[in-house]
Amino acid sequence: MSELKGRAVVFETPTGDLELISKELAQRDCGDVLSLSWAEANKVFSNGASVLAVVPIHEGDERGINLIEKLRTGRPEMPVIATGPSQTPDLILRAVRAGAVEFLVQPLDPVDLGPALDRVLQTVGLRTRPGRCIAVYSAKGGLGSTTVAVNLAFALARTGADARVALVDMVVQGGDVRIFLDIRPAHTITDVAERIHSLDRHELLTFLHAYPNRVWVCADPNMPDEGEMLSGPRVGNIVQRLTHDFDYTVVDCEHTLNERTLAVLDTAHQIVVLTHLTLPAVRSLQRTLDLFARLDYPADKVNVVVNRYGSKGDLTLSDLEKVLDRPVRATLPNDYRATIDAAARGQPIQRIAPKSKIASALDELAHTVQGVDKTGGGSNSKRSRFFRR
Ligand SMILES: Nc1ncnc2c1ncn2[C@@H]1O[C@H](COP(=O)(O)OP(=O)(O)O)[C@@H](O)[C@H]1O
Ligand SMILES: [Mg+2]
Repeated sequence: MSELKGRAVVFETPTGDLELISKELAQRDCGDVLSLSWAEANKVFSNGASVLAVVPIHEGDERGINLIEKLRTGRPEMPVIATGPSQTPDLILRAVRAGAVEFLVQPLDPVDLGPALDRVLQTVGLRTRPGRCIAVYSAKGGLGSTTVAVNLAFALARTGADARVALVDMVVQGGDVRIFLDIRPAHTITDVAERIHSLDRHELLTFLHAYPNRVWVCADPNMPDEGEMLSGPRVGNIVQRLTHDFDYTVVDCEHTLNERTLAVLDTAHQIVVLTHLTLPAVRSLQRTLDLFARLDYPADKVNVVVNRYGSKGDLTLSDLEKVLDRPVRATLPNDYRATIDAAARGQPIQRIAPKSKIASALDELAHTVQGVDKTGGGSNSKRSRFFRR
């Protein structure tokens, strides 16, 4: 998807780190690496092809900090990733003050480098069609997360002639996506997790289950205990990588706010939070929204969606909006027949009941979450990018 190429200029960087940077950039189809010593540093000011710089800084050696400062005025459009021997607050602060946008510890770790490159490349416009990540979450099971995640994925795939969608089953203990789509995946998210930093785009596809209609499924683990080995950062990496490679990445989240769920919600550009118009569902929704506010998720990112609208409930839609003091972004009608038929036949609702109201409501929801967000999306939690660990 990245059509533009650009060069990374890397200063005084050990061979191992240099190779890693080259590999990560190649995975992102992003041109080559130019390695310069301090003596050659000035070449960066005349090298127009360079789009980002990696500059090492050390206590007691001002060359790195001085260079970052010079780049801030000489090449203001070029983001700088500073690297240092340790993550001491003082070093990080100096890097930030000088003008660096990221700080990474040497030797570089692909777990940190990959996402940092993604963020930096995005700021310089090297992704011509940035992917979008949509997380579907409800604090309680049974409200329709899997139904909505699965069908939203197909609705998004239909929004463009060649939109490609990744559908991730993050319910690591007994996910239902494979049941809803009647698939027997050869690989699961644990296979992807083990290899995420070495797979190129084509290899990554072989670890997903290709469903017709341009939807690729990243399946839940085969054994429940495998899922417990998936850490938050690992999950964040997978979702960021899929978001980079696909036009849309839809994630069916676990119903607990553990570190995996938070990693997905942080990464997501849009969150679909489901509720019913029943008191228990609304109470847990309120708690979820309070937490999202504490995490500084922008209001635009959070979409309250009432599922099974029209079934018997305790509140009306306007009661709910009053209680929450925010609008409901969408409603999905109660349609037992279409949802059960689709799941039983392992097909999306749009294929089983294309003329149903729920099918068109899902299409509308796809358009709602697809809209260009004003927040920039992705990795916007309180956890600062500098003090992430
Ligand atoms: N809009 C709807 N109308 C009728 N039934 C629905 C609707 N959405 C979901 N369901 C049903 O509700 C049940 C729970 O849905 P599911 O997607 O498995 O929820 P979750 O993943 O949140 O546990 C399923 O039986 C599903 O068919
Ligand atoms: Mg489910």
